[in-house]
Amino acid sequence: MEVAILGATGLVGQTFVRLLENHPWFEIKHLVASQRSKGKRFSEVATWEVSEEIGEIKIESLEEFAGEVDLIFSALPSLIAKEVEKKLAKRVPLFSNASSHRYEEDVPILVPEVNREHLSLIEVQREKRNWEGFIVTNPNCSTAILVLSLKALSKFGIKNVNVATMQAISGAGFRGISAMQIFDNVIPYIENEEWKIENESRKILGKLEESKITPANFEIAALTTRVPVAHGHTEAVFIEFEEDVEREEVKKALVEFEGLEKLNLPTAERPIVYREIPQPKLYRDLGRGMTVVVGRLEKVGERKFKYVTLGHNLVRGAAGGSILNAELAYLEGLL
Ligand SMILES: NC(=O)c1ccc[n+]([C@@H]2O[C@H](COP(=O)([O-])OP(=O)(O)OC[C@H]3O[C@@H](n4cnc5c(N)ncnc54)[C@H](OP(=O)(O)O)[C@@H]3O)[C@@H](O)[C@H]2O)c1
Repeated sequence: MEVAILGATGLVGQTFVRLLENHPWFEIKHLVASQRSKGKRFSEVATWEVSEEIGEIKIESLEEFAGEVDLIFSALPSLIAKEVEKKLAKRVPLFSNASSHRYEEDVPILVPEVNREHLSLIEVQREKRNWEGFIVTNPNCSTAILVLSLKALSKFGIKNVNVATMQAISGAGFRGISAMQIFDNVIPYIENEEWKIENESRKILGKLEESKITPANFEIAALTTRVPVAHGHTEAVFIEFEEDVEREEVKKALVEFEGLEKLNLPTAERPIVYREIPQPKLYRDLGRGMTVVVGRLEKVGERKFKYVTLGHNLVRGAAGGSILNAELAYLEGLL
């Protein structure tokens, strides 16, 4: 299948290119960015040594891209994405990293290991909008990492979640944050991030009933910080269950959490591994960046636990997650 990547010169866009370079089903045909990048060869902007074939592709501007492909991956800034994605998705299936359409009722925020069944919203969306294509989004990067452990633990009944994130610099995009701001510093504020984690988690773990998702009803509060780490978001989680369980049962639920192993999707990896002291530098690339790590699990009271989780924001939290979504849609005959 022929694919285009929108926002191909950015951090998420370049991660898409890297992950799709030798993909068995999807072939990169168009790389699209702003007028600033128009006409450059991809090898001029790539931050690693790309193959000659990909390196020779000339970047198109969004204005000249005609949408003549089988599917589109979008890594555009949200403000730009809103209208452009809507226009393109009328004809072509589009998998987006932007937040612009995540909260629309007929648009799934998909993490295949967590809410695979939400993919059936595509049919609702197509019918309601009279579209040939569709939009499937993946969550904000911190949410994508968090919901894997929450899903694994949901069998104990989640009552309340508090999460404090330590988010990598690459989460802010290529021009995101100046070196002088972040070097030797921690910034406990990321615009719009906390609201996203709280609401996206509840939507993803929510129930699809007929043509609508009813968000999960646990309480959740997030506090987000930016830290001087290049890649990999770390999250300290405090969770309260409906039922009382022992640490070993909780650990077992995490490490035995089943992913998509049986489906043989090219990008699927084991979703969760346990490491006692999770650190981004050591573990962000586990499972080609698709595996999240959980550790420091402790029981802190009746029905209450704390743990740390981390994952690669550009892979599990963005491009890798989006590719996995497209692979699942392909397998289910939706492309
Ligand atoms: N970074 C993460 O960890 C992460 C995780 C999850 C989701 N996301 C979301 O993914 C999207 C991309 O994030 P990023 O971190 O990759 O950002 P980025 O590094 O700033 O890249 C932005 C991309 O969009 C292009 N662009 C900007 N303005 C444009 C315009 N007017 N027309 C066409 N293209 C335009 C840029 O092209 P030029 O190079 O030509 O300017 C570049 O390719 C955002 O919506 C972000 O919220 C990011």
